[in-house]
Formats: sequence, structure tokens, C-alpha cells
Amino acid sequence: MKPINIAVDGPSGAGKSTLARRLAARLHYIYVDTGALYRTIAYDMMQNHAENEQEICDRLRTLKVTLDYQDGVQHVYANGTDVSAFIRTQEVSMGASRISAIPAVRAFLLQTQIEMAKAHSVVMDGRDIGTVVLPDADVKIFLTASAEKRAERRWAELEAKNPGKQTYEEVLADVIRRDEQDMTREIAPLKQAEDAVLVDTTNADLEQSEQMMFDVCREKLGL
Ligand code: DC
Repeated sequence: MKPINIAVDGPSGAGKSTLARRLAARLHYIYVDTGALYRTIAYDMMQNHAENEQEICDRLRTLKVTLDYQDGVQHVYANGTDVSAFIRTQEVSMGASRISAIPAVRAFLLQTQIEMAKAHSVVMDGRDIGTVVLPDADVKIFLTASAEKRAERRWAELEAKNPGKQTYEEVLADVIRRDEQDMTREIAPLKQAEDAVLVDTTNADLEQSEQMMFDVCREKLGL
């Protein structure tokens, strides 16, 4: 049977990864977090002091980025080392946004993503899944929420881990800066595919958002 591919794109903080993961579990598909692949490259470049485009391209020649699943959780590897625990910092977030604008980086990860979707039914989340990686996806969802709401959620997450380390205003500024970087880059910018369904989670909690996404899938896939 041909695998079913569901593409979920949208800006950072819209709840994409949490919701895509829950949707995948509900449908019994594999969840592919493509942001983690970009983060893996960003982390590796930081570790190896590859800063400019030339240094990054040189490093890509010897870098292998892979992923697997342990108890249903995606792990990412740089040359065989599991870096999953190190890729969620603000520094790596900004680095990933920056390196993801480099064409060679996107080309480097394209095949890995396409192969996952060919081999398995997936819910794949990212920025260009519906537009570039899986233009023929069975379902495309563009998940968004206001910048203020996304910053509010991110700030609450950071506060829970590390109280008092960052203000809401700083987090909001980061969200806006990252949106700007992701939407204005020349290659594969973040944008809604023409045939994607817009799901706005500004005024919805997780359960409601998941249900909205599930309803889109149910309609498109005839479940
Ligand atoms: O979804 P995330 O925050 O983990 O993604 C980290 C960065 O990677 C994000 O700023 C943009 C980039 N990215 C991308 O360009 N294309 C994707 N398919 C996924 C992420």
C-alpha cells in the first residue's frame, strides 16, 4: 500500500511539533520532525566552529545526519553521535534558522526527508514540507497562531524549565526575528502551499487544535 504523507508547516511556536506528534500517534503514522535535522547541522557546525558558508559547505562533505526512533521518539545523529539532547537551546534555534537559509544545507537534507516519506506513512513537520519536500502530500496543513500567542507559549515553556531567565518581551522579539528570517530567505521560505489548509491555533488549546487537524485529515483521506 502506498504510504500516506501528511505535511505540516508553519512558523515556530505554533505548536507544530507537539500537534504533529499527537496526530501521528492517533493515525499510527511516523512523526518526522525535520526541524531537528536542521538543528543537528547547526549544532554540529557550532561544535566544529564552521561559521561562514564555505566552512559550512566543507563540513557538510564529512557530515552524516541520520535519524531513528526509540520507543517512538525520534533521535538525531551527527556522524553517529546522538545529539538529540543538545539541540533545543535558544542558541541552536537561532543557528538552525540561519543555516537553513543556505541552499547547500537544504539540498543536503532533502533526500533524507523524501526517503522517509516514501518508506512510511508520515506526519512530517517543517517549513517547506508542503511546498518543496512533499509537493504531492496527501494532506497539507499550515499551522499558525499570532506571534504574541506563540511567544506566550514559548515563554511559559522556558519559565517552567528556567524561571526568570528570559522576559516575555525577549522571547517575543526572538519569535519575530525568527519568523522574519524563515519567511524572507530566498530558498524555500516559510509560506503556505496553495493547496494547504490553514489551521489557526491562536484561540485553541492543544485538544482543540489536534481535533482541527484530525478533522482536516479525516476529510481529505476519507477516514
Ligand atoms: O521547527 P524548528 O524550530 O525545530 O526548526 C528550527 C529551524 O530550522 C527553523 O528556524 C527553520 C528551520 N527549518 C527549515 O528551514 N525547514 C524545515 N523543514 C524545518 C526547519
